[in-house]
Amino acid sequence: MSSTIKEALQRASFCLQRAGCGNPVGEAAALLAASLGVTRAWLYAHGEEKPEAAELQHYFAWVARRADGEPYAYLTGEKEFMSLSFLVTPAVLIPRPETELLVETAVRELKGRENLRILDLGTGSGAVAISIAVLLPESEVVAVDISPAALHVATQNAARHGVTNRVRFLAGDLYAPVCGERFDAIVSNPPYISSTDIETLERDVKDFEPRLALSGGPDGLNFYRRLTAELALLAAPPALLLFEVGYRQSEAVAALCYAAGYKNISQLNDLAGIPRIILAKPAGTA
Ligand SMILES: C[S@@+](CC[C@H](N)C(=O)[O-])C[C@H]1O[C@@H](n2cnc3c(N)ncnc32)[C@H](O)[C@@H]1O
Repeated sequence: MSSTIKEALQRASFCLQRAGCGNPVGEAAALLAASLGVTRAWLYAHGEEKPEAAELQHYFAWVARRADGEPYAYLTGEKEFMSLSFLVTPAVLIPRPETELLVETAVRELKGRENLRILDLGTGSGAVAISIAVLLPESEVVAVDISPAALHVATQNAARHGVTNRVRFLAGDLYAPVCGERFDAIVSNPPYISSTDIETLERDVKDFEPRLALSGGPDGLNFYRRLTAELALLAAPPALLLFEVGYRQSEAVAALCYAAGYKNISQLNDLAGIPRIILAKPAGTA
């Protein structure tokens, strides 16, 4: 295989376009830059250079996988979240930009408090737990996931960001690994896609991201029911609940928090204006 960077980009763009990719030129360039370990600007300045045959082979293997629907982040193994780079594998959900609002809200609500203990339920790659630990250097975070494979990725991410000593990862079913413990806040981005909506998701999500990270039961609300009903497993109810919610789930999740004794509830919208975060506190708290 011998071709210039410019020719390789043209061939890859064509291949991605034929596969129905929404931004074939951009993705072809981003993949080649990541594959060669250079910037996109460098590619355009060196269009007549010929990469090694092995480099082109690696690149076109990625292009073929992307054309087959595999998410970009699983190919490169990296995803940026809260300006931090996280390792991602098919064992974990790829952290989404809208989830940054969960972290930003947690940090805004909790900043300045001492001896904080925060529980992240359904930690996946650890993106939420680790970002909070980085941004709240006085805090201790406990992060639970039912998937040992996800926790393996999360543990590597904690080491990558230097917070191994303040983020404890535990395998298990929601509150089970932390029964009887005390926390100041719970954050969670649980699986919340309803059984019917799962089949309508984009192929790169439906066929590649872990079902365990997506499926929230028949109406998508199973985890919120458990997250609120099983609070009694802790030593005491935390002063703050912060949940990411799916499209049109905010009212139902707010009602579940209210029924669990959290009478002071706010909803926060994401950049698309969709209610995305439920922030719940007991009555009488500001
Ligand atoms: C939507 S993903 C969120 C991942 C990560 N917190 C994020 O925001 O990118 C939900 C996570 O919950 C985990 N999970 C599913 N069922 C669980 C359970 N019963 N107990 C604990 N974690 C669970 C999945 O393995 C998955 O990692």
